[in-house]
Amino acid sequence: MNMIEIVTPRLKLRQWKEEDKEPFFKLNSDPRVMKFMPKLLSKEESDSFIKRIKGRFKEDGYSFFAVELIENQTFIGLTGLSIPSFQSFFTPCVEIGWRLAYDYWGKGYATEGAKASLNYGFNELNLSEIVSFTVPKNLRSRKVMERIGMRFIGQFRHPLLPKEHYLSKHVLYKINASI
Ligand SMILES: CC(C)(COP(=O)(O)OP(=O)(O)OC[C@H]1O[C@@H](n2cnc3c(N)ncnc32)[C@H](O)[C@@H]1OP(=O)(O)O)[C@@H](O)C(=O)NCCC(=O)NCCS
Repeated sequence: MNMIEIVTPRLKLRQWKEEDKEPFFKLNSDPRVMKFMPKLLSKEESDSFIKRIKGRFKEDGYSFFAVELIENQTFIGLTGLSIPSFQSFFTPCVEIGWRLAYDYWGKGYATEGAKASLNYGFNELNLSEIVSFTVPKNLRSRKVMERIGMRFIGQFRHPLLPKEHYLSKHVLYKINASI
């Protein structure tokens, strides 16, 4: 269960390695990557994010994969499926997410990894629906959602942020398994 790997034409979605910690911290502390997140992560926060992901793989059988470029084995970020920890009108649910180091944007890697993750969720995990969400201004992320066939559902306030927080308003997208 813990050794799942997904290979796409250019990417390997794999389990996390000790060597991922440094490049993951680099992207989690990059203001360009974290523009729509509440804060940059410290090294401790970034490492404990990996720890939580590993825990989810053990508990749920899936979580966010580490994403590696096949051509040179470089770690470039994360993508995959996860169960959100907060409650809202659309939870419990499974979300799809992505976060790539800035140098690897604009190459179609997020979409390629996301399509493989969706496929895994529907065909291996037998999920019936997958959601995704972000802040309205995160157009790059919304474009990934649209490119993989998700549909816009509406807006909601993220319950883990104060109502008046500038990132509180979110957009919700969904996709259903095709029967
Ligand atoms: C969200 C995020 C992963 C999207 O990255 P992205 O590079 O825009 O998305 P993709 O990897 O799918 O790349 C798509 C772009 O690559 C281009 N591209 C270049 N070569 C390509 C190829 N061979 N195949 C497909 N697309 C290619 C596409 O035309 C598209 O260009 P566009 O930006 O002009 O529309 C990235 O912006 C990110 O990590 N952001 C920070 C974290 C974040 O906000 N995560 C979401 C939180 S909810």
